[in-house]
Amino acid sequence: MAINTPDLSLNIGSLRLPNPVMTASGTFGYGKEFESFVDLGSVGAVVVKGISLLPRPGNPPPRIVETACGMLNAIGLENVGVERFVSEKLPYLRTKGCRVIVNVLGDSIEEYCQLASRLNGVEGVNGIELNISCPNVKKGGVAFGTNESMAREVTAAVRKITRLPLIVKLSPNVTDIGAMAKAVEEGGADAVSLINTLIGMAISIKTKKPVLANTIGGLSGPAIKPVALRMVFQVADRVKIPVIGIGGITTWQDAIEFILAGASAIQVGTANFINPRAVDEIRLGITNYLVQEKIGAIQELIGAAKR
Ligand SMILES: Cc1cc2nc3c(=O)[nH]c(=O)nc-3n(C[C@H](O)[C@H](O)[C@H](O)COP(=O)(O)O)c2cc1C
Repeated sequence: MAINTPDLSLNIGSLRLPNPVMTASGTFGYGKEFESFVDLGSVGAVVVKGISLLPRPGNPPPRIVETACGMLNAIGLENVGVERFVSEKLPYLRTKGCRVIVNVLGDSIEEYCQLASRLNGVEGVNGIELNISCPNVKKGGVAFGTNESMAREVTAAVRKITRLPLIVKLSPNVTDIGAMAKAVEEGGADAVSLINTLIGMAISIKTKKPVLANTIGGLSGPAIKPVALRMVFQVADRVKIPVIGIGGITTWQDAIEFILAGASAIQVGTANFINPRAVDEIRLGITNYLVQEKIGAIQELIGAAKR
């Protein structure tokens, strides 16, 4: 029997997504920036730029460097703050009928909890993604995402505050990514997303100085795909909650690789800067692949590389 409309849907906690193709935080602005390229209602979910309690100016320029097969960024989590996000950015997204996941960041557990509590019950917010790559200022600047017990603690604290679907986004800058995923699952996460950027730098041979004003930055793009794919493969074995694959996904073939590795969904990041229609093309490519392979539901493909 021919399958022309394969089922691409999935659940993240109580949130039902029509398809697994999401945008990665910080690479799709607050959605409006892409309105002339992408039908926002057809994206699995829009994950918006990381939001903090108060607005942040970010780092001084230069804060982006192109690298072979990727880029380094040290934006420094510039954002409008949660109040302006809710009053100025969210109303637009609501008109597009898209599912919105708010990526949040904080310097302390209290800040993450205050953000979750502020977003509770706000119309148009469908889920929260915790970016735990920020340093915990109260605990001497160690990033939440590099310490298992801190990752478990911040997840559990936010879990107590909100019933919104909760995704925890993992940093790759750790020894055992599986242990981090397990810790946030124990903390009550509904899903894990990985990976955030790898730490890197560039030096100008002209000025003989680091290019980024911040010296170090986060490496993203196709250069990190093999690392991200390996981490998704390892994490999928360790947790029962859905895994969302991120890192260098540029084509539908990349997305299929992550699904075969065990991802239930994927996020597209740096590729949006190269091809602003990437999310639409990737979703269509996945659909065509399933039709060609005579696979009725994407669920059948998740983790197939392990079987
Ligand atoms: C310019 C830029 C800004 C980013 N801002 C955020 C952010 O605010 N919060 C976050 O969790 N990740 C942020 N990221 C990380 C991406 O969401 C993603 O995890 C990473 O870039 C790897 O995916 P990619 O290779 O597809 O870009 C940012 C990445 C870039 C390139």
